Amino acid sequence: MKAQVGIIGAGPAGLLLAHLLQRAGIECVVLEAQTRQYIEERVRAGVLEQGTVDLLNELGLGERMMRQGLMHYGVELRFGGRGHRIDFADLTGGKGVMIYAQHEVIKDLVAARVNAGGQIVFEARKVGVERLASEKPLIRFERDGAAKEIECDFIAGCDGFHGICREAIPAGVLTTYERNYPFGWLGILAEAPPASHELIYANHERGFALMSMRSPKISRLYLQCKPEEDLDGWPDERIWDELQLRFAALDGFSLTRGPVIQKGVTGMRSFVVEPMQHGRMFLAGDSAHIVPPTGAKGLNLAVADVRVLAAGLQEFYGSGKREMLERYSEICLRRVWKVQRFSWWMTSLLHRFESDGEFDRRRQMAELDYVTSSRAGMTTLAENYVGLPME
Ligand code: FAD
Ligand code: DHB
Repeated sequence: MKAQVGIIGAGPAGLLLAHLLQRAGIECVVLEAQTRQYIEERVRAGVLEQGTVDLLNELGLGERMMRQGLMHYGVELRFGGRGHRIDFADLTGGKGVMIYAQHEVIKDLVAARVNAGGQIVFEARKVGVERLASEKPLIRFERDGAAKEIECDFIAGCDGFHGICREAIPAGVLTTYERNYPFGWLGILAEAPPASHELIYANHERGFALMSMRSPKISRLYLQCKPEEDLDGWPDERIWDELQLRFAALDGFSLTRGPVIQKGVTGMRSFVVEPMQHGRMFLAGDSAHIVPPTGAKGLNLAVADVRVLAAGLQEFYGSGKREMLERYSEICLRRVWKVQRFSWWMTSLLHRFESDGEFDRRRQMAELDYVTSSRAGMTTLAENYVGLPME
């Protein structure tokens, strides 16, 4: 097989890149290790930046999102028993975020690609990449027990944090920057109407908690836990009791409980590799960087990367110029580091660190007080949360 661009991974990065390339008349193949059903049901992110929403609409992929998603123009930060609203629309000139599950985005992207006759090879096994520094890099894989190969002009490594693309880059090329956090998030999806119509990020002595949602009937809630927390110790009632304690407010706020339909524990890390390219392979999304989820940025950053990559490939196939492709890492990393900073900052602002003493605790409260009472403080949170402009 041959393709101009071989894309590895059908997550948000890989699928969106395929659409952007298809629109530009560049042919590509997407290889995915899992089944279609698996990727369409995997529960993950839920917040789309304004720019991500606008792009999906521009590409004609936003119809279901606009019908079923919930546009939000603010969030609440809760601490000391009080809630403080950050008004995105007012602070950012009318911008907001869309609450729409990542797996719904995946369904929309897969359906659109299949309808347009584009190729996605599901259940691709033993995927490997070779000859990255040559003019014709190669992808090898197995499908239904048969060995296959695709000769490409370029490879897009969109295969997430545990993928094979980053690992295929020779030793010594990449520098890794990393931070692990001494906690994780226990997340649940529940058949319970959200107790507030906007997200609540709570900083409580017992630890962080987040109330989000998927629809007017389904809540998505998270609480700070140990990084390797054993779910067996967390029957549903204990989770609800703990969430209630952390969201408690002086006005008698009460969570609406309901059957828990999914639960899981996620670790928290910050991770970046530089550069995000080697020869004719480009890393995009989680394969190149991970952010802790507190700023709701992972998916959006994956989208930002592939916008740059698609523009670079379009320039190359349109005019033969390689300037933008050569600057791919440099362009992406400016945003990546700003988003890393924001995600780290939101995490530090809202979580309980065991190692913190009373000084740190008071400083954290003072920062929350500042961020929720100064217009400059609120603006810095708002403009990052709705998404910084694309370069
Ligand atoms: P992925 O979505 O990981 O996709 C990679 C794909 O590659 C997968 O489908 C995988 O099966 C496939 N693959 C892997 N290896 C191979 C291989 N060898 N061959 C072929 N295919 C392969 N982000 C936000 O923006 N907002 C949020 O609110 C948010 N909340 C989150 C909450 C949780 C609990 C978690 C876990 C993540 C959250 N994120 C959030 C992060 C977000 O989900 C990721 O950043 C996003 O999925 C990255 O997209 P991606 O396409 O780079 O990678
Ligand atoms: C959700 C996830 C996040 O990481 C976040 O910061 C906000 C919302 C969610 O899953 O809804």
